[in-house]
Amino acid sequence: MNYKIAVIPGDGIGPEIVKEAKKVLIEIGEKFGHSFDFTEVLLGGASIDVHGVPLTDEAITTARNNDAVLMGSIGGNTATSPWYKLPPEKRPEAGLLKLRKSLNLFANLRPAVLYNELKGACPLKDEIIGDGFDMMIMRELTGGLYFGERKTVEEDGVMTAYDSLTYNENEIRRIAKRGFDIAMKRGKKVTSVDKANVLDSSRLWRKVVDEVAKEYPEVSYEHMLVDNCAMQLVKDPKQFDVILTENMFGDILSDEASMVTGSIGMLASASLNDTKFGLYEPSHGSAPDIAGMDVANPIATILSAAMMLRYSFDLDKEADLIEAAVKEVLKAGYRTGDILSEGKTKVGTKEMGTLIVDMIKKG
Ligand code: NAD
Ligand code: IPM
Ligand code: MN
Repeated sequence: MNYKIAVIPGDGIGPEIVKEAKKVLIEIGEKFGHSFDFTEVLLGGASIDVHGVPLTDEAITTARNNDAVLMGSIGGNTATSPWYKLPPEKRPEAGLLKLRKSLNLFANLRPAVLYNELKGACPLKDEIIGDGFDMMIMRELTGGLYFGERKTVEEDGVMTAYDSLTYNENEIRRIAKRGFDIAMKRGKKVTSVDKANVLDSSRLWRKVVDEVAKEYPEVSYEHMLVDNCAMQLVKDPKQFDVILTENMFGDILSDEASMVTGSIGMLASASLNDTKFGLYEPSHGSAPDIAGMDVANPIATILSAAMMLRYSFDLDKEADLIEAAVKEVLKAGYRTGDILSEGKTKVGTKEMGTLIVDMIKKG
């Protein structure tokens, strides 16, 4: 089969890590007789530099006309990059948010898995880690604070800024259903995370998720307040199967969950709509502090490519092989700097990609 993939290298470490994920996909294609056509699309700072805007209409059309999108990461150093002197709607992140909204990518899946091989890179104590953990953070991606009305006004010499957090029941229902569907294929447990002790949007969230939960009697279901959840993620991460939450909470909790898996460089992500189409990107950012140094961990992007094979193309065997190859390379003791622990062999971005490709060849 032939699959059309729009590729967004992005900014910072983006082009370096996407290159490794492409290497892996090409190897999978050769091994299983698939062909992948890659079409490059500009987003973020790379697009600002060429077109003056972070996302053009043509870029959205190209993304839409492909079967899926593989993305690195976008943005620069928010304190020093000239991109952040532009008005907010012209900055790199605005392009990413517009792309997510335009393609209706409301369901963001971020799997946080502690591989056995990476126990040494996990900052938690052995008795907390136990046999490791495997959770799915299901983050709503096209609503909430990210897309609510915002403005900054000055009155009597005093500046005031507003950001509004809005959800309607339909937006909550569709992400909740997706969360319970995923739970049915996993550990059959959903933890719905909100701040219902303070926010109206969270109280509506709870009411709607309660209704959806009734349709899934097999799934054990609980509510957790977001501040407690942040604490529980380091106290006892094993308790979680699916964490279902709104946009901003999911953004913050997924970075936290990534660190207990050893590094943000391990956390893949899939952003899905109601079709087979999806955008696949690591959960981390463009890491301007290490860009161009061949030290970034490409595994989150490679695992995101595996999610693409699984969710958009139904190529489960191929996705399984990528995941197994990643584990084997870790088992053999190879590590990028972010997941390095005593006695392991340090490798760079390219070498890590090549090791995974070679392992796929053998597998
Ligand atoms: P970041 O995730 O880019 O980096 C945080 C820290 O983690 C840095 O020390 C970085 O070196 C490290 N890190 C991140 N990815 C790594 C990897 N693959 N291997 C090894 N180390 C890694 O977050 P930040 O510094 O807060 O943001 C930098 C820029 O990225 C900002 O412009 C932000 O808006 C953007 N960003 C983009 C995305 C995205 O494209 N989806 C996601 C998050 C942040
Ligand atoms: C992420 C990022 C984005 C977000 C930024 C770059 C807009 O942090 O994908 O987690 O907050 O969603
Ligand atoms: Mn984030």
